Amino acid sequence: MSQMSVAARLIWEALYLKYGYDFRGYSPASLSRRLEFCMSRFGYLSETELLAKLLDDPTFIHQILPHLTITTTELFRSPDSFRRYKESIFPVLKTYPSVNIWIAGCSTGEEIYSLAILLHEEGLLERTTIYATDINPEALKRAQQGIYSSSIIPDFVKNYTAAGGQSQPSDYYSTDYDLVRFKSFLKDNVVFFEHNLVTDEVFVQTHLVLCRNVLIYFEKELQDRALNLFAKSLIQFGFLGLGDKESLSFSSSAPYFTTIDARERVFKRNSLNLSGTTEMAELNPADKELDGGKNQTTHS
Ligand SMILES: C[S@@+](CC[C@H](N)C(=O)[O-])C[C@H]1O[C@@H](n2cnc3c(N)ncnc32)[C@H](O)[C@@H]1O
Repeated sequence: MSQMSVAARLIWEALYLKYGYDFRGYSPASLSRRLEFCMSRFGYLSETELLAKLLDDPTFIHQILPHLTITTTELFRSPDSFRRYKESIFPVLKTYPSVNIWIAGCSTGEEIYSLAILLHEEGLLERTTIYATDINPEALKRAQQGIYSSSIIPDFVKNYTAAGGQSQPSDYYSTDYDLVRFKSFLKDNVVFFEHNLVTDEVFVQTHLVLCRNVLIYFEKELQDRALNLFAKSLIQFGFLGLGDKESLSFSSSAPYFTTIDARERVFKRNSLNLSGTTEMAELNPADKELDGGKNQTTHS
């Protein structure tokens, strides 16, 4: 923040003080890019003009908010990670009668449909509730619709196969001219809602949290807050999947996680409870298998 112009800093302060959206802990580089984009998108020549608009017109927040975050995503993004979830995490999820998954920063929903497809193929979808959250209301609306341009199909087919998909990709969507609509059974158990990792709290106990390609936009302190939320939300031996440029080694939450796969950024919530003492709970049988019978202690 300190490297920004005064007007730019005031914009982020105004967003927080007037509208409650706190971007102040995001990385300065990403904030500057967002501001530049918004100025050109809405035709403002200076940051001061944009600030005045934000202060004077309370409806402007609804127009600008969808453009303040980067929503780039794709189906089966980083397919090797999905393959890892399928091979290492799903066998453990199968040992639970019901499963809660939180996809934090789900953007326009491609990650949700990707995971739902693999859960379906493993017979897990029906017993799973997916909590799909994002700060961006426009992205969430699109996620809920599950309608995308048909131009995504070639990459979808390639990534789905690389992720270990076992069916025909076309089983999961219908086409409508140049659009594809994902089948509604994939979202029957998905709950979509706005949740801000900066200001909101944990809302459910989960067996798996995916928060991929979100923390890269945050400064360390904010990443730490989000990772703490995930440590609180995950049950003992629950799993966390991060994006391929993200880590938790620096975080105050690191002691609560064991690394399962450093390359694919898969971590497991260990038995340390949040007050810092080790719980002597029984390992889930599938968990022993995953650990090779050992209690891993490393984290990354
Ligand atoms: C680059 S997308 C990643 C989408 C998807 N997880 C993936 O890996 O393809 C980042 C998403 O994080 C969301 N996001 C940014 N800040 C957030 C916050 N404070 N709380 C919740 N979501 C946030 C953005 O709106 C955006 O949809």
